[in-house]
Amino acid sequence: MAERILSDVLTKPDAALEMTLRPSLFSDFTGQPKVKERLEITVAAAKQRNEAIDHVLLSGPPGLGKTTLASIIAKAMGANLRSTSGPTIDKAADLAGLLTNLEEGDVLFIDEIHRLQPAIEEYLYPAMEDFKLDIIIDQGPNARSVRLNLPRFTLIGATTRSGLLSAPLLTRFPVRERLDYYHAEQLEKIVLRSANLLNVEIEPAGAREIARRSRGTPRISNNLLRRVRDFAQVRADGKISLQIANQALAILEIDENGLDEMDKRILEAVIVKFGGGPVGVSSLAVAVGEESDTLEEVYEPYLIMEGYLKRTPQGRVATELSYQKLGLKPVGNQPKLF
Ligand SMILES: Nc1ncnc2c1ncn2[C@@H]1O[C@H](COP(=O)(O)OP(=O)(O)O)[C@@H](O)[C@H]1O
Ligand SMILES: [Mg+2]
Repeated sequence: MAERILSDVLTKPDAALEMTLRPSLFSDFTGQPKVKERLEITVAAAKQRNEAIDHVLLSGPPGLGKTTLASIIAKAMGANLRSTSGPTIDKAADLAGLLTNLEEGDVLFIDEIHRLQPAIEEYLYPAMEDFKLDIIIDQGPNARSVRLNLPRFTLIGATTRSGLLSAPLLTRFPVRERLDYYHAEQLEKIVLRSANLLNVEIEPAGAREIARRSRGTPRISNNLLRRVRDFAQVRADGKISLQIANQALAILEIDENGLDEMDKRILEAVIVKFGGGPVGVSSLAVAVGEESDTLEEVYEPYLIMEGYLKRTPQGRVATELSYQKLGLKPVGNQPKLF
């Protein structure tokens, strides 16, 4: 499925590219001004007191800068950063290993923390709250629990679905910040900065066009920039002008509003297959051949924010705007072409 592959290219991280383009200081981090200010204050205060900072939970859709902020915070604290993710910790012993290897002041970053298994999550509670770890040694009648002291560390959790976090885990994060989609002007700055780092010549109007069609997401801006750069190099003189950006984005099938083929397939399914909705997310996922989680985490939030979809207790409903987008007209339950 060509569309599926394109969506992946636009939304999945590219490790090497992200290393090059990831800002390492608060001052290079564009946008999210309130979140940034609060985190900078937290960091500065902890440093003045010579303490580790409180545990931080960062939430928001993929590609908005959660991992980036975690590494900026660790660097600003002068702390070591240990990274792992919820799904990769599959035994309590894995978590115990991570925790007991931490040093005073270290930052432990757990990505996709909503995907930690509940049994493992419980080990985290005393570790986060009292810097203690209860481990069971031996088995059967000899089994006993031993309490270990942990160094004062900082846990930074990242999640695309803070709603899936259990209340006990959520409340153990004194600092909770939610990242929002970026404005086009902020993304334009990010595109210009990335172009500079990649040594790509770009005109401000070209950067603006890429920014405008990035679904409010820096990762998509960077990925689009790279694809447009390829086009500029092969089909023109390498420089990204407005015209080149427009031509390249047309080939990539990113429309005027930044919607890609998968977005349109979702809207079309709601309207044509499900009569405009309401439709539950799992039926919709089957209809478009995508996983429910991806639909909910990656596609829906943007479509809802831009007013193409509405979430109701009965399911997802297409709005007037999505009928317009697809050139369809709501007629009772039978959408017709204009
Ligand atoms: N505020 C920002 N300023 C500049 N670049 C950013 C910003 N936020 C994210 N990026 C870029 O987008 C990419 C994806 O960010 P990342 O932190 O991995 O997102 P998340 O962890 O939320 O999925 C990073 O490599 C970085 O280059
Ligand atoms: Mg991340």
